[in-house]
Amino acid sequence: MSFYALAVYCATVFVLVAAQDLELPVQTCKRDASDYTSCLRLAMQEAWPNFVAGIPKLDLPPLDPYFLEYQHTEYETGDLRADVTVKNVNIYGLSKITFLAVRPHHSDNAFRLEVDLELPKMLIEGNFKANGAYGALQIGGEGSFNISLEDIKDTWFMEGPVANDIWTLEHFRLTPEIGKMTVWFSDMFNGNEQLNNIALNFVNENWPSLYREMLPFLSKNLDDYLTEVANRIFSKVSFSKTFP
Ligand SMILES: *[C@@H]1O[C@H](CO)[C@@H](O)[C@H](O)[C@H]1NC(C)=O
Repeated sequence: MSFYALAVYCATVFVLVAAQDLELPVQTCKRDASDYTSCLRLAMQEAWPNFVAGIPKLDLPPLDPYFLEYQHTEYETGDLRADVTVKNVNIYGLSKITFLAVRPHHSDNAFRLEVDLELPKMLIEGNFKANGAYGALQIGGEGSFNISLEDIKDTWFMEGPVANDIWTLEHFRLTPEIGKMTVWFSDMFNGNEQLNNIALNFVNENWPSLYREMLPFLSKNLDDYLTEVANRIFSKVSFSKTFP
């Protein structure tokens, strides 16, 4: 074995050992116990405040508010085509999640976790810059926005293979159902205040159908984003210790 190979080998062993040392701040539940699913639900509910506070060792930032520095998205759904950049976004409300049910599915070399949850309220606020069109109507502008959401029900679908005692998510899907939504943005029509007010009224009167139209797209983008966030955490913890 060359010195280089040995160095790489030692570094790899060190990383693997280091990875096994970190643990999620969650009460564990034995998968062969008769109360496995209710145990997991309670464990998540009790551990949630630890996640909300953020876990620096696992690269998990605080979740309430959750801060998003920058996100660029190109929307193309239905009549809407838009290039949207949001900056300095704060998302409030995640600390109030109630976990309703957890459904774990273990197989030989994969794991899937479904989690039903609800939360009473969220507020998303930040800055944006947008360019595009809604049908024949040109959209463009920059400024601030906020979106308030109420009565949110959701199921998380987290799934992926387990190899070398590490769970690697391929998907983290969610499709939130929303009871009430109020949207505000400062300028979506290059300074035309009248048009902006018409658009705000339109969006706030028609949000259920607009949201339904955008959901597959949002869901896909959230999947990519959350899968990466979750893998930053799960790549650092032993699967068999987390789900014994
Ligand atoms: C959104 O911002 C506007 C303008 O600052 C404000 O009037 C409104 O109350 C805000 N909405 C929420 C839900 O905070």
